[in-house]
Amino acid sequence: MAKSTKSKGRRSAAQPTPNFHGHDILSVDQFNRESLDYIFEVAHEMRVLVERFGSADLLQGKILANLFYEPSTRTSSSFMAAMLRLGGQVIPINNVQYSSVSKGESLPDTIRTLESYSDVIVIRHPEVGSATTAAYYAEKPVINAGDGVGEHPTQALLDMFTIVEELGGVDGLKIAMVGDLKYGRTVHSLTKLLLDYKVEFTFVSPENLRMPNEILDAVKRRDHTYVETEAIQDVIANADVLYVTRVQKERFTDLAEYDRVKDFYVVDEELMQQAKEEMIIMHPLPRVGEISYAIDDDPRAAYFRQMRNGMYIRMALLAAVLGKA
Ligand code: CP
Repeated sequence: MAKSTKSKGRRSAAQPTPNFHGHDILSVDQFNRESLDYIFEVAHEMRVLVERFGSADLLQGKILANLFYEPSTRTSSSFMAAMLRLGGQVIPINNVQYSSVSKGESLPDTIRTLESYSDVIVIRHPEVGSATTAAYYAEKPVINAGDGVGEHPTQALLDMFTIVEELGGVDGLKIAMVGDLKYGRTVHSLTKLLLDYKVEFTFVSPENLRMPNEILDAVKRRDHTYVETEAIQDVIANADVLYVTRVQKERFTDLAEYDRVKDFYVVDEELMQQAKEEMIIMHPLPRVGEISYAIDDDPRAAYFRQMRNGMYIRMALLAAVLGKA
């Protein structure tokens, strides 16, 4: 099969300002401090735009193909909302079983079909590397909305945007990631994205759900230190950011093993009494018991604000890859 001929490289040093026009968004490796500042600035402007006017016509005439092979509420609907608020339109394929995928159509053929009708493709797929495969065959920009246990780059961008908006910056923060660090792709992407900043990492997980060595090696290579522990009660008092994740039942082959660890951590009012006043609790959502509903009204509970930030970040990314940021 012939591959795409579009430009796919990360931004070259010769380019003075970040330029995402026509580029795929596949990995957090494509970003550095300068390009993050740029995306966050645009996302902040999108927030102001939505709060003042609700919508704009920046992407009028553009069409997003929103292709989800795995369940999603936030990523799928925030990409749709982002496109609609910018005046564009969406081809929503949230149930691939009702598309020709169920007849055995290959990923390259599905991508080629959708790009015939659209200007940008968002894809979530259970296999690591699937978004890269899609981008290989597509002439139009492809955005990775989660590839198996691989990456979830737009989630990492919205996570860091939330930290910046909530705490004013990233340098100097103590960041504790809690829960399923093995299968949770959001913590993999966020950790890699944070390596450009001076942060202290603590990875809190049961022994069998530790952060993969590949991520730990990346942390070491960039001269960051980290602590691994099972004991959330030992880290809660020092954390500026407590990033909690769900145990990813769908990734387990042995459900007895899932049952052993699914309730390992519960962030509740009692635990939060030990936390600082100026800290935030984050979660990519959905949650399935690891954060008590009783702390939703705690001002430190940032996860619903984080979720809303996803729309602003995705508005910024769509505008950027379509050359309208
Ligand atoms: N955070 C996140 O990816 O949520 P969804 O699975 O609902 O898209």
